[in-house]
This record gives sequence, structure tokens and C-alpha cells, in this order.
Amino acid sequence: MRAHEAGALHADINNRGPAWLRTPEDVNALLPTLWPRSVTRGADGALAVAGLSVRDIATEFGTPVYVLDEADLRSRCRDFRAAFPTEDVYYAGKAFLCRAVVRMIAEEGLHLDVCTGGELATALSAGMPPERIGFHGNNKSVAELGRALDAGVGRIIVDSFTEIDRLTALARERGVRPRVLVRVTVGVEAHTHEFIATAHEDQKFGFSLAGGAAANAAFKILDEGVLELRGLHSHIGSQIFDASGFEVSARRVLALQAQIRDARGVELPELDLGGGFGIAYTTQDDPATPQDLAKRLRKIVDSECAAENLAVPHLSIEPGRAIVGPAVFTLYEVGTVKDLDGIRTYVSVDGGMSDNIRTALYDASYSATLASRASGAQPMLARVVGKHCESGDIVVKDEFLPADVQPGDLVAVPGTGAYCRSMASNYNHVPRPPVIAVRDGQARLIVRRETEDDLLALDVG
Ligand SMILES: Cc1ncc(COP(=O)(O)O)c(C=O)c1O
Repeated sequence: MRAHEAGALHADINNRGPAWLRTPEDVNALLPTLWPRSVTRGADGALAVAGLSVRDIATEFGTPVYVLDEADLRSRCRDFRAAFPTEDVYYAGKAFLCRAVVRMIAEEGLHLDVCTGGELATALSAGMPPERIGFHGNNKSVAELGRALDAGVGRIIVDSFTEIDRLTALARERGVRPRVLVRVTVGVEAHTHEFIATAHEDQKFGFSLAGGAAANAAFKILDEGVLELRGLHSHIGSQIFDASGFEVSARRVLALQAQIRDARGVELPELDLGGGFGIAYTTQDDPATPQDLAKRLRKIVDSECAAENLAVPHLSIEPGRAIVGPAVFTLYEVGTVKDLDGIRTYVSVDGGMSDNIRTALYDASYSATLASRASGAQPMLARVVGKHCESGDIVVKDEFLPADVQPGDLVAVPGTGAYCRSMASNYNHVPRPPVIAVRDGQARLIVRRETEDDLLALDVG
């Protein structure tokens, strides 16, 4: 890669794309792992979701628009419930939260993780039973903790000694005994196909295991007796395909559990192994099924508990991306097509880093397809970019689109359910797109499009 003072993205000129990206035999084909389960290409060549054409969606709701396949989302909730029938599955609301989704996951029997007052308010306003809510976050304010206690949330995952003190004071004032888990930083960092296990835990979340803070947090809670310590919690990363990271983290966290038992005579009844289960964004990703995951996690926990002579604790997990990510695609309209002779073709769409920051932020990979029609043209290596004033405003870094893609075409990007609308911004004063849910051929708006009036309403000066 050539060095460039403005950063790698500016110098990364490679018109063949990454090694894993193959020229497709049929540029109109849809790879089932990438798309919501009800998406098909209809007889007219346009994509349809639950039988509804994306052309009709664009006409009714405009573009860009996030399109949620409701049956797909619900089926992923059911798959997790069926795979983890005696465990608790907390949907990690940070991936994407709105009231309709809260209702869907509640109806499907999931629990819900929130990590701010805003997420808590959304959950409560949609009628999520508070006892099925877990409250996360490394800097929960006194006000947020007070609201969580007043609402009666089921558990709070404590993240610092300051928070333990805050929560203890609030619990004393209210005469309540909140259930808590201690978030343990186990020195495992997992992303995609790799994980690193270290003794070093240089990050803002949780209590260090290696440094002894995690044990001290547990002892403090047990000794003070104001909060009810239910168990330990570990979350090791995101977009994980390799179970060995969970193996190392479970071993470390259960060793701490044994240490607590030996020191205080208490066996903690619960264990949360977090989320981070990978999904398919491109042809290179091959995610495990929930059944597979359940088998592997149970095996790991059972054998580590046997090794430590511990009773197997009640297990919970926190998938976000794996529930909502594959259930959504973003529909854009192409505005310009620029062929940089011999370098690459830039296809500009009417959104960009304001509705999907992950490519710019994490160098995430996505796929795309021409959605409003099928094409007989040859595949052409393209870069799908947005309309923002950043050259790093890339939605899909490398993808084969038909060579005749043109302004007015619709392009769809799958796998955008998680960390896209929830991380959306108003950069360049672009209003954030709506979210629609499609079921049985009917679309309904679940988050409306922002308007320029919305933006101006905040600008009181
Ligand atoms: C504590 C915790 N649990 C669960 C998740 C969900 O991760 P994912 O959406 O990758 O499953 C996150 C994501 O950051 C997290 O921090």
C-alpha cells in the first residue's frame, strides 16, 4: 500500500479488488446468506422483499431507505430461542432499536440489553417488561441508574468501582436490592476470524481480570451486601466466527468464579458470555448457526465448570448484529457514475457515511446489487460511494455491478440492520433515512425520515 499523508484510504488504489472477491458468473444472482430470507429477484428483474418490489418501496418511501424484513428478524429471534431454550437471549439494542423492534423481540421471547437512558426509554415506552431488561454501559450517570432502579430493570452490568458506589447509594436510598453482574475484561480481543488472548486489558470497558480489579469488585459487592451479585459477564468483541475466543474467555471468567467461591463461599448462579456472533457481509463470511453456537458454548462452559468443580451457571448471551444485521438492506438511488479510466468506477448513491459509517470507521466490507432491474451487461468492479464531503465516504469498497449501471437505478446493500441506523448522523445536514418493516407484501413505516424541518427545529439560534 502506498503511503499518503491523508491516510491509507486515499492511496489504496487497487482496481482488482481484494483477493476474496471473485468475478460473479451471474451479476444478477443473490447469495442467500447475504440477504433477508424473503428477498427474491422478481420476473421483472427487480428485487422484492416479502413479495413487495423495491421499485414500489422507492416510490412510496423515497431513498435512501432501510428495509426490514420482519419475518426474517422474527425467524432469527426464534432460531436463537430454539437453540438456547433454557438460557436467556438478550438482544443487544445498540445494534438497532426502535419501538417496533422492541415489540418484535419481546413477542419472540427475547430479553433486551440497553446501554443508555435513551435506549432504556425506548424499551420502556414500547412496553418491554422491565425485568427482561439488562442495563450496560461504562459511564452510566446517577440519573440513568436511578431511572433503571425506578423502572425495575432485571439486571445492571456494573462496569466500575464508581458505578458500584453510585448504585449502592441509590439502592440504599430506595431500599431495594438490585441484581448485578460484574463486567470482566478477560484479555481476549476477537474480531472476525481472529482473536488475541493477552494478559493486557487496555480498554475502557469492565474490570481487569489480570490486574485483580474484577475479583475486588465482586468481593466489594458481596461484602457490602447491598447489591445482589448474580454473576460475571464477559464480551470479547464483534463479528466473531471463531469459537476459540469464547473458550479462552469462559476459562478465565470461570476461574474467577472459582476464586470467588474459594474466598467467599459463594457460587454465583449466572454467567453472561456477551455477543459478537458474526454475520455474512460478503462471500468470504460463513457464519455459524445459532444451534452450532449453542452447542459450542455449552460444551465450553460445561467442561470449564467440570475442571473448576463448579455447578454450571444459568447462561445468557447478547447477540445484536446476528439478530438484526441480516434482516435489513439499504435501498439507494444512483446519482452519478464516474469511470476513472483504468482505476475504478465510482457509483455515487444518495446516502453514504451518514447512514452507514461502518465502512469509513472500521474499514468494514459490504456487498451490493443492482436492485431495480436485472442486467445483461458484463460485471464491472465498482466502488459504491455516498454524497458526503469526504473522500473516505465509501459504502461498499469493492463490488461487481453490471457495467451499464446508470443514474436512476436502485442499488441495494444487504446486512445493514446493525450499527447503521443506530450510528447514523446528520453530517452535511443530510436527514437520516426512514426504516420500513415489510411483512406479507405490506410495508409500514417504523421510523420516519428526518426532514430539514427536524434539523432546523434543533437550530434555535
Ligand atoms: C456488552 C455487549 N454485548 C453485546 C454486544 C453486541 O454485539 P453484536 O451486535 O456484535 O452481537 C455488544 C456490542 O458492542 C456489547 O458491547
